[in-house]
Amino acid sequence: MIAPDLRSVGGPVEPQGPVALERDDEAQATFDALIAAEQRIEPRDWMPDAYRKTLIRQISQHAHSEIIGMQPEGNWITRAPSLKRKAILMAKVQDEAGHGLYLYSAAQTLGITRDEMTQQLIDGKAKYSSIFNYPTPTWADMGAIGWLVDGAAICNQVPLCRASYGPYGRAMVRVCKEESFHQRQGFEILLTLMQGTPAQRQMAQDAVNRWYWPSLMMFGPPDDSSPNSAQSMAWKIKRFSNDELRQRFVSMLVPQAEILGVTLPDPELRWDDDAQEWHMSEIDWPEFFEVLAGRGPMNSVRLQNRRAAHDDGAWVREAAAEYARKQEERSLSLLNGAVA
Ligand code: 3HC
Repeated sequence: MIAPDLRSVGGPVEPQGPVALERDDEAQATFDALIAAEQRIEPRDWMPDAYRKTLIRQISQHAHSEIIGMQPEGNWITRAPSLKRKAILMAKVQDEAGHGLYLYSAAQTLGITRDEMTQQLIDGKAKYSSIFNYPTPTWADMGAIGWLVDGAAICNQVPLCRASYGPYGRAMVRVCKEESFHQRQGFEILLTLMQGTPAQRQMAQDAVNRWYWPSLMMFGPPDDSSPNSAQSMAWKIKRFSNDELRQRFVSMLVPQAEILGVTLPDPELRWDDDAQEWHMSEIDWPEFFEVLAGRGPMNSVRLQNRRAAHDDGAWVREAAAEYARKQEERSLSLLNGAVA
């Protein structure tokens, strides 16, 4: 354990001049020691500005992804093939909303407000995961999203449970538990379809063909073109590089695809014994960057829907703010009455 007095260097008294510089050095040393010792950085701890900014960037993008990610599946709630499937899908979409809320709360501990983050999203200035800019034309897409998208999310997010920033790592523990259910329900939808009619099997395979490559893109650009990875790994926010996680994901998919009886749509996919990794075809990176630039198949629809939902919810925010104001007024007058 690092002694608590080490942390006190970032306390509220702000000296000026050379003393302040000395204290900054001391605070930096404490921060470095906490990271090296695998200790968590907590909201009240001193942290370098760049660490704070990186976390706000990553956590808010992650939160936006969860919120925008409700749309491709929300789209199927009324059309799910049975009451049971409807109930499961509705619960899953609600889980994603919850994940967004934990993550917005974690980001708020770093000094950004929920309103600021929401504004960045609806103004189209914030990134969210590329994966949610693809359409969901058939019921089998619900299976492919669960299996591939939630599967990729688990691979990427389990290591984030050990992220050096406390509120982020702790939020990820619960998120990952729920994502495991999501992945299994997607697998089960595909398994059911693959045991059905030829048309159902074809529908499952088509959905896998559509989601396989975008799910590999979720891990981000290749390591040699990932500007943030090295620093985020040094700060122990990220624990593995984008390519390492992509490899892990493919290792997980190959045996599961065999059980399902689906083909992964990459003719070059094979285990390379010399390199000790999966050899795969080149990912369509121009497509990935087009989606990031806002020109994916569903980018504008996703943002339009988000803006409309925000506008439609204005009355709820106003009512909640007014209720909070009245509550505060009431407790103040009670307090004043007690004092008088
Ligand atoms: N979609 C959109 N943007 C992406 C992206 C993707 N798939 N992959 C990378 N990017 C962006 C990065 O955000 C970064 O943008 P910025 O510098 O302008 O902010 C840029 O491309 C360069 O990429 P880097 O590899 O340098 O960026 P990172 O080091 O941040 O790594 C990441 C990217 C792996 C996505 C990392 O941020 C991360 O692990 N984030 C947390 C997990 C997350 O956000 N997942 C999103 C999916 S949520 C989800 O799956 C919900 C579930 O319900 C299914």
